[in-house]
Amino acid sequence: MQSKTIAALAVATAFATTFAAPAAWAQDTIKVGVIASFSGPFADYGKQMQGGIKAWMAQHGDSVAGKKIQIIYKDTTGPSPEIAKRLAQELVVRDKVDFLAGFGLTPEALAVAPIAQQAKKPMIIMNAATSIITTKSDYIARFSMTLPQISAPMGDWALKNKIKNVATVVADYGPGIDAEKAFSDRLVKNGGKIVEAIRVPLRNPEFAPFIQRIKDAKPDAVFVFVPAGEQSIAFMKGYRERGLAAAGIKVIATGDLTDDHVLPAMGDNTLGVITTFHYSAAHKSPENDAFLKNFAATNPQGGRPNFMAVAAYDGMNAIYQVSNKLGGKIDGDKAMAVLKGMKIASPRGPISIDPATRDVVQTVYVRKVEKVNGEPYNVEFDQFPNMKDPGKQ
Ligand code: PHB
Repeated sequence: MQSKTIAALAVATAFATTFAAPAAWAQDTIKVGVIASFSGPFADYGKQMQGGIKAWMAQHGDSVAGKKIQIIYKDTTGPSPEIAKRLAQELVVRDKVDFLAGFGLTPEALAVAPIAQQAKKPMIIMNAATSIITTKSDYIARFSMTLPQISAPMGDWALKNKIKNVATVVADYGPGIDAEKAFSDRLVKNGGKIVEAIRVPLRNPEFAPFIQRIKDAKPDAVFVFVPAGEQSIAFMKGYRERGLAAAGIKVIATGDLTDDHVLPAMGDNTLGVITTFHYSAAHKSPENDAFLKNFAATNPQGGRPNFMAVAAYDGMNAIYQVSNKLGGKIDGDKAMAVLKGMKIASPRGPISIDPATRDVVQTVYVRKVEKVNGEPYNVEFDQFPNMKDPGKQ
């Protein structure tokens, strides 16, 4: 209560000392503040989101309901919850944004949730995937995924495929703990066993000693969640160098490990890796074809788009739909009413926003890394349709 009051005072004081934007200009613009890391170890997260936003705007124009859509990008350099919070305050008070969006990393999304709540700003999550996030403000809607949603199906799939004894390796923070729990609960419920449960630090993890422990435990497979990006490369390198593949220990993971953007740089040791996930660049649909084409055209140096680019593209779709429905006059409560139950024909397949939780409902695919025209891709071969977040059931 007390900290809420202090935060309210801080916002009110900052508001009073800030000049209002010229009225005519403000009225002609819908402003979207995008908070993500554009530099530092997770710089790719912001760049992928920006790529998805650009692809959407190239395809659908930059005005809605007679208003220009203005995107204001803010770099957290993160993971940095304090900076994310300060940037959100600035965006609300000084820039007077209509939407907050972005959020690659859970700690940054959690830090901003109270500001969205207090300012009644719709907060469009384009990645951060710990289950609990959407419970932290009534103004959050998530267009990415949750780790329980992605990991629980792998618990089912593993046992059906005679993978019974499993070691888990997860990043030691919200999404990793969610992934470990959802996967392990499902596996054990179905008669499987967790032989090692390893948590590695979010920043600069050293995989080698953990990988040796896994090898010694001789599981059928190792289940992995690491945040997408460089850590995937480090994990797979250790896996190969310590001879786990040669020892017959399979890798099963959430698709963060074989993220489309880094997959081409990971080399042939990813071939055969099975993952569960909501998006693959190899997904076959007209919506994905259009997305890939527009992403390539607007991001010539951007490489392959990944799940964060897709969530940003869909998040923009949502912002455009809300803006249209509200005739360009954005009100937080009315915006949330439009977001609840929203359906989108996403490049990943059909998605909707659960009106009860404001979390995404979608198909979770089982995929295998295979070469397609000489390049590694996550090729979908099975699916769990209409998955809600089991973390909230
Ligand atoms: C998160 O911090 O919520 C997060 C980051 C990277 C991922 C997934 C989730 O790949």
